[in-house]
Amino acid sequence: TAIVEHTFVVSQMNMMHLCKETLVTVVNGQLPGPTIEVTEGDSVAIHVVNKSPYNISIHWHGVKQRLNCWADGVPLVTQCPILPKQNFTYRFNVVGQEGTLWWHAHVPCLRATLHGAIVIRPRLGASSYPFPKPDSEVPVIIGDWWEMDLEEVDRKMKDNFFDYFPSASTINGKLGDLFNCSGVAEEGYVLDVEPGKTYLLRIINAALFSEYFLKIAGHRFTVVASDANYVSPYTTDIIVIAPGETVDALVVADAPPGKYYMVALPNQAPLPDTQTPEPATRGMVQYNNNNNRGAGNGATALRSRNHIEGGGGGDPSPTGDVPVAPVMPDQHDVVLSFYFHSNLTSLRHPRHPTPPVPIRVDEHLFITLGLGSVCRRGQYCNRTKENEAVLVATMNNVSFQLPTTPLLESHYYHIGVQDALLELPGKPPRAFDFTDQSLIPIGTKEKLLEPTSRATMVRWFRYGSVVEMVFQGTAILQGDSNPMHLHGHDMFVLAQGLGNFNAAKDMSRYNLVNPPLKNTVVVPNLGWVAIRFVANNPGVWFMHCHYEFHLSMGMAAVFVVEDGPTMETSLPPPPLDFPSCSHDNNLAPD
Ligand code: C2O
Repeated sequence: TAIVEHTFVVSQMNMMHLCKETLVTVVNGQLPGPTIEVTEGDSVAIHVVNKSPYNISIHWHGVKQRLNCWADGVPLVTQCPILPKQNFTYRFNVVGQEGTLWWHAHVPCLRATLHGAIVIRPRLGASSYPFPKPDSEVPVIIGDWWEMDLEEVDRKMKDNFFDYFPSASTINGKLGDLFNCSGVAEEGYVLDVEPGKTYLLRIINAALFSEYFLKIAGHRFTVVASDANYVSPYTTDIIVIAPGETVDALVVADAPPGKYYMVALPNQAPLPDTQTPEPATRGMVQYNNNNNRGAGNGATALRSRNHIEGGGGGDPSPTGDVPVAPVMPDQHDVVLSFYFHSNLTSLRHPRHPTPPVPIRVDEHLFITLGLGSVCRRGQYCNRTKENEAVLVATMNNVSFQLPTTPLLESHYYHIGVQDALLELPGKPPRAFDFTDQSLIPIGTKEKLLEPTSRATMVRWFRYGSVVEMVFQGTAILQGDSNPMHLHGHDMFVLAQGLGNFNAAKDMSRYNLVNPPLKNTVVVPNLGWVAIRFVANNPGVWFMHCHYEFHLSMGMAAVFVVEDGPTMETSLPPPPLDFPSCSHDNNLAPD
C-alpha cells in the first residue's frame, strides 16, 4: 500500500460561461477539482490550503472512515471549519471499498464548484475486476452551473427566497452546445473512443439541484457498481443518478463509427412551483477514424447483440459529421428513477464477497421527509421581517439546526452541548396519508402538520446495533424524490415502493439475499425505501438529504455511534493539528 498525497488550494477565480464572468470557489483552479486515484488499502493525505474568504471543510463522500470520524469533514458535526488563511491535512485510509466515490466541500452550496472524483482500484489490478477489463476509465461528473454567488444563494434561501435556480447543467464542468453565448455554442465534454474498445464510466452526480437521466445515443450501459459497491451487471440504455450517488458503467464502442451525443437531462418533479425546467446538457462520444473495429479485449463478451432498444429505439445511424441524438424520456418521469434503482442488486462473486444482511434488528426508525414552517424567532410569527414564518425541511417534522460546537468534540470529551439537542423521533408525531396529494388543498399543507420546530436532532446507537430505517416521502414535499445519504456506513437497500409504506405487506418483500449496498438511497417521489445498516463505526455521523436546499433547510439528523468495549471498536483521539473554533465566534450558520 502507498500514501497518496495531494495539496488542495481552495481559492476564488472568475469563470466565463453564458457571456458572463462568475466568481467561483474551486480547488487548484479547476472545475471539477482533481481526481484522487487510489488502490484499495492506500493511505491518503490531502493538504487543504484555504485561500478563499470562506470557512471550508472537505467531505470524502462514501469513504467509510472506520475509527476515523475526525476526517469526515462536516462543519460543526465532526470539525470546526478550516478558516480563511488556515490549513489542515485530512488523513484517511481507503479500505474494503472499490469503485467510485467523490469528495466535496461540505459547506452549503459551495460544493457546486468544490468537488472531484475518488477512484478506488482493486489491489490486484484491473484484471481482478468482476467484469471484463476496460480499455480505459473516465470520470463523468454531472453538475450544475450557477451564475450567482453561491454563498448568497444559501443565505437568501434560508430567508425564504425560492427563485434561485441553476442556469445550466454540466458534464465534467462543460455546459455543452445546448447553451450558448450570443449564438456561440458552449464547449461540451467529448469522449474519444476507438471502435470495439470498452470504457468504464465513473459517473458522479455532483449537482445541487437535480437527479439526472444520462443517455448516449446508439449505446448501452452495463452498470457494474454504485457507491463503490459492485452490483450484478445490469444492462440499460439509461442511467438515473441522484445527487450524491455514483454509478460505474461499462460502455462498449460497438456502434458504427461516428458521433453520438451524451445527454444529461435533469429529472424534475411534475409539479414545479415557479421553476422553468432546467435544460439538458450534452457532450459527445466521438469515434476515432482508425478502422480497427472489434480490437478491444473484453469487448466481445459485453457487446450487446442488439444495442438499440427502449428509449434509444429509432436513433438514426450517423450520417457524415452529424451527431446522433438519443431519444430522452419525459423530464418529469419520476417512475423511471424508481425502476432504475429497484433494479440494483449486489454482486455475488467469490472474489468480491459482500457482507450478509443482518437478520436480527435492534432499532426501528420510521422517518418522514417533509416541509414545515417555523417562526424566525419565538413561538408566534407575525408579518414583520424579523419574525415572519419561514419554510423549513424536516424529518419527522423537526428541522435540523447545527450546534455551535462540533458534536463530535462534545461527544468525545463528554462535554454537555449548549444547544438544544433533541432525540430524533423514531416515528412522525401523528399519522396521516403521506402521499395522496388530492387530500391536501393548496395552501393548507401546513395545517396537516404538528407545529414544526428546529432542533439539533441526534440519535444514539450502541456499538454494533442493527438499525432498520424506513424513509417515507410525503406529499408535503410536492413530489421531489430525496437522496438520503448516511456518513460513515453503507446501507443495505431492502425494498422500495410507491405510495405509503405498509409494514404488514411491505416487510415480506424485503430482499435479504442480495440487496445493494449504498451510501445514498433514493427515496422515490411519493414513495418509501427501507434500509438496514450496522452501527459499527464509532463517532458522530451526519445523515441528510443530498439535495442542497433540502439539507440547508434542515432535512438532516445526526447519528452517534457509541464506542465498543475494546480499542479496536473505539474512536481514537483527534489529530494534533485539528482545527479549533476558538478564534472565531461567528461560525454558527444564520
Ligand atoms: Cu456528500 Cu454529507 O455529503
